[in-house]
Amino acid sequence: MDKGAKLTRIAKQIAACVECKVGKSGLAVPGEGNPDAAVVFLGEAPGKTEAATGRPFVGRSGKLLRSHIREAGFIEEEVYITSPVKYLPDRGTPTKKDIRHGREHLMEQLRVIQPKYVVLMGATAVYAMLEKTLPIMKVHGKVIKESGLTFLIMLHPAAVLRFPKYAPLMRADFALLAGLVK
Ligand code: URA
Repeated sequence: MDKGAKLTRIAKQIAACVECKVGKSGLAVPGEGNPDAAVVFLGEAPGKTEAATGRPFVGRSGKLLRSHIREAGFIEEEVYITSPVKYLPDRGTPTKKDIRHGREHLMEQLRVIQPKYVVLMGATAVYAMLEKTLPIMKVHGKVIKESGLTFLIMLHPAAVLRFPKYAPLMRADFALLAGLVK
């Protein structure tokens, strides 16, 4: 089975997963992009636009993320975009239990894709992959190798929408990523 077929199988498992749906609503948002991506971008959980369409990062945060991806010289279709939590949480923010459960599906996706870099955008992505809470404003831009994966920590685009003064930080982290990958 090729990588694309494996990812489709995982997406079907997510769509059928009863535990994923506890306290959440909308369509499953498994992720999208290139099965051979060198870079996987990880967010938090789908918002309303994502839950209505089944696609990751297509709302306001998504537009900002996708513009940074293009500006840094990547092609959207070359990367893979997803989140640790695959459904819209009823309370907006996912619980640690939601994140730990979502991590199981996510790890299967990463085992298939085998990216060079996993970009952890914000505290939920950090918790999902590193199982700890880190101060994002202090650690963004850091590269961490763990469990056979290489992570780059970044701000979540929603943080930049809320505090536009953070935009240069995000731009600098994207420039760093572009330098690492190319
Ligand atoms: N924010 C996220 O963290 N993930 C999405 O898919 C959309 C918005």
